[in-house]
Amino acid sequence: MSERGPRRGLRLVRLALLASALLAASTLIVPPAGAADDAAQLALGKALFTANAVPPCALCHTLKDAGASGAVGPVLDELQPDAARVATALRNGIGAMPSYKAALKEEQIQALARYVSKASGGAQ
Ligand code: HEC
Repeated sequence: MSERGPRRGLRLVRLALLASALLAASTLIVPPAGAADDAAQLALGKALFTANAVPPCALCHTLKDAGASGAVGPVLDELQPDAARVATALRNGIGAMPSYKAALKEEQIQALARYVSKASGGAQ
C-alpha cells in the first residue's frame, strides 16, 4: 500500500505528459481547417491564373508570384487590386479583357479574386 500511492501518481504524470505531447504533435501536424481551405483556394486561384482559365490571365498580366509577364493588361503587382475589384473585372470584363462569367464557376472566381489580391499585396 505504501508503494501504490506514489507509483500511481507517477503513472498519472506519465499519462498526462504523453497526452500533452500527443496534443502538441497533433496541432503541429494538422493545421487548422481554415488554413487548409485557404491554401487549397490559393492553389486553385494560381492554377487558374497561370494555365486553367481560358484564356489564362498570365497571357495578358504580369504577376510575379505566378511567374507571369503578360503585357496587355495592367501589371497586377502594381495595381494591387482587392478581391472585390478582381471579382468585378472577372464577372463583367473590363476594356479589352473578356468577361469570365460564362467560363468560370463562382467558386473559381472567388479563388482567383483571393489569389490575385493576396499575391499582388492588395487588400483581401
Ligand atoms: C486578353 C487579355 C486579358 C486576359 C486574358 C485577362 N485580362 Fe485582366 N485585364 C486586361 C486588360 C486590357 C485590362 C485593363 C482594362 C481597362 O482598364 O480598360 C485588365 C484589367 C484587369 C484588372 C483590373 C480591373 C480594374 O478594376 O481596373 C484585373 C484585376 C484583372 N484584369 C485580372 C485578370 C484575371 C484574374 C484574369 C484571368 C482570369 C485576367 N485579368 C485575364 C486584359 C486581360
